[in-house]
Amino acid sequence: AAPKKYQFDIQVKNVSRLCHAKPIVTVNGMFPGPTVYVREGDRVLIRVTNHAQYNISIHWHGLKQFRNGWVDGPAYITQCPIKTGNSYTYDLKVTGQRGTLWWHAHILWLRATVYGAIVIMPKEGTPFPFPRPNSEVNLLLVAIILRCGVGEWWNNDVEKIEKQGSKLGVPPNMSDAHTINGKPGPLFPCSEKRKKYCQNSIKINFPSHRFAGKSLRSDTFVMEVEQGKTYLLRIINAALNDELFFAIAGHNMTVVEIDAVYTKPFTTQALIITPGQTTNVLVRADQVPRRYFMAARPFIDVPLAIDNKTATAILQYKGVPNTVRPILPKLPAPNDTAFVMSYNKRLRSLNSPQFPANVPLKVDRRLFYTIGLGKNPCPTCQNGTQIIASLNNITFVMPQTGLLQAHYFKLKGVFSTDFPDRPTITFNYTGAPLTANLGTSLGTRLSKIAFNSTVELVLQDTNLLTVESHPFHLHGYNFFVVGTGIGNFNSSKDPAKFNLVDPPERNTIGVPTGGWTAIRFRADNPGVWFMHCHLELHTSWGLKMAFVVENGKGADQSVLPPPKDLPPC
Ligand code: C2O
Repeated sequence: AAPKKYQFDIQVKNVSRLCHAKPIVTVNGMFPGPTVYVREGDRVLIRVTNHAQYNISIHWHGLKQFRNGWVDGPAYITQCPIKTGNSYTYDLKVTGQRGTLWWHAHILWLRATVYGAIVIMPKEGTPFPFPRPNSEVNLLLVAIILRCGVGEWWNNDVEKIEKQGSKLGVPPNMSDAHTINGKPGPLFPCSEKRKKYCQNSIKINFPSHRFAGKSLRSDTFVMEVEQGKTYLLRIINAALNDELFFAIAGHNMTVVEIDAVYTKPFTTQALIITPGQTTNVLVRADQVPRRYFMAARPFIDVPLAIDNKTATAILQYKGVPNTVRPILPKLPAPNDTAFVMSYNKRLRSLNSPQFPANVPLKVDRRLFYTIGLGKNPCPTCQNGTQIIASLNNITFVMPQTGLLQAHYFKLKGVFSTDFPDRPTITFNYTGAPLTANLGTSLGTRLSKIAFNSTVELVLQDTNLLTVESHPFHLHGYNFFVVGTGIGNFNSSKDPAKFNLVDPPERNTIGVPTGGWTAIRFRADNPGVWFMHCHLELHTSWGLKMAFVVENGKGADQSVLPPPKDLPPC
């Protein structure tokens, strides 16, 4: 079949939200950007042309590209950015995946507005392993940044916000609203109310706003449903810095797929979704016909986080007038770690004969990484210190040239491959808050993995500065989440409890607050693959590293040659 083709024009466009029109970086002038529709087995050519005054690169989050990291997208990891006036064609193959993924800018904080959905239909003649829905709807849950008082979108000073994040020693003023499909919903105050909101932005809590009625309809996403029909909702958390709870008033959701992998269906009233993750749910319109709110609000596990805004959209039965006031759903409490743990434990791979879960049973390489925050001396910063973040006490330093290029062309001096398999200092990771261990070292240090070896990685949260949940994303692979727990990982007791039968398979996992998560994957995809916390703030602070997966001996087991139009550094 002929490849599918898309043209992505990166352009700055005026978009009006929250009663203000502001210029933001978009794809084809759309916010959110265009949905990429493909079928399993397709080849897709997406030509990205940069008309904006910012460097850009696009990542196809979770879309596995075998031997071809050149099209993965993270700037300075697998490519150099596409400069103003230039184009690059991402030549993508869709193999062995079906469901919902997404794409986003992968440079600085541009993904705040440059993102969209990827919908992968199963192969022709292969039905869903669940009852066929009558209709499908994409829901992108995100945060937009519109700073109070200043009343401007973030786009002109994206770098300033990033620096603010590390230099002030506190999280920056990150966003003024969360949105569903780019719209904050009627609970978000406008005009005069907005002014008041800005003065009290920390105190306002869901659902304290009065319903603003029809006036904000253009700021509200409405999903119209017909009584008795079933809908497939493709939910994507595209937020920069917030894990989100999501619920629909009066309606249960049946989870059927996560990160483009089918799950054993289960029913829930609310779900948790971290930045980077996707969740497909079936919703049956079987309630009294009226208007119901769908709502998303952050999971807040650290006192410093003040991003507590609720985004709403409306599920509206056909024929119900717009004047009917919607009902609000019950969301878990903002700090409900127990809900997060129990929800994640219910997630299981479908593991059917047709869609087996091939969990590695034997482990060739055991890795244990501690996640820590810390402060480093910084003479030019407020208070003389700067917040940084680290894995195994190493803060990742971004290179000036693409790591995959350096690996492929054997360039010296760009990175080292001595990232430690375990921390050099052991301590009670989740004990009392730790301040003694804050000195981290900086480096562009990678971990070298033998081709086709099986890897087990335990990600251990620590109380360095504070415990916090971290959504970790691995590029180039899916992994199996074989175990998770609160406290310190116990290597003699915990592995006995691992699920090696039907663990969830995904590309992003929330490491629990003050706990650990164990993942396994087979390193069968050669190249350089980024791994990082998908909280953009933490990525900026250095909570990232990369794996170099070596070539295999076979003819089809090595990194492909780079494409001719790969942007130069
Ligand atoms: Cu969705 Cu490296 O990210």
